[in-house]
Amino acid sequence: MNVSPFVESPTYVVRKMLQLAEPKPDEILYDLGSGDGRILIMAAKEFQLRCIGIEIRQDLFKRSMDEVKRLNLESRIKIINEDFFNVNISNADIVTLYLNVLANEKLRPKLEKELKIGTRVVSHDYEIRGWKPTKIVKDDPIGHNIYLYIFDPAKIFVPQSSKIPHPEIGHRLPEIF
Ligand SMILES: C[S@@+](CC[C@H](N)C(=O)[O-])C[C@H]1O[C@@H](n2cnc3c(N)ncnc32)[C@H](O)[C@@H]1O
Repeated sequence: MNVSPFVESPTYVVRKMLQLAEPKPDEILYDLGSGDGRILIMAAKEFQLRCIGIEIRQDLFKRSMDEVKRLNLESRIKIINEDFFNVNISNADIVTLYLNVLANEKLRPKLEKELKIGTRVVSHDYEIRGWKPTKIVKDDPIGHNIYLYIFDPAKIFVPQSSKIPHPEIGHRLPEIF
């Protein structure tokens, strides 16, 4: 199920997302909804990560694979033309997201089932409701927000009693539910 239209994360936001995750060379990064492959390409080139993109749209899958081949990054980047709900991501060290709040809500049970303790989840613009972020970067002049979560089932959940309604931020993508 396609849960988000294609909109690129700006390059400087991608770099900030990756820096926030504090990657170590050869760690495994998944970009769920990898679009034109820009997160994967920067993660491989600048941070020496091993990257897996999952992209449901065939045109974007082909476009991103062409770019990966042009840059000779095939040994570092694999892209799967699939629905990310059907792909096991349990070996991830880092997961990147640029979806929307409802898509994140739909994805949350899968993340909770499959992620190992310590996996960093970095979400551009949209929070994962019910999880406590380790860090939120909101200092971008044109309003991009980045949420960093460090997955640990013993610590990540927002206690029910402290769920305070707050205004939505970062509505750049239309929600298509
Ligand atoms: C907002 S774009 C983000 C692209 C890229 N990650 C970035 O930050 O530049 C979201 C992408 O998710 C893809 N997508 C949406 N639902 C998906 C699904 N269920 N499985 C795989 N890809 C999906 C869309 O086709 C689109 O390319």
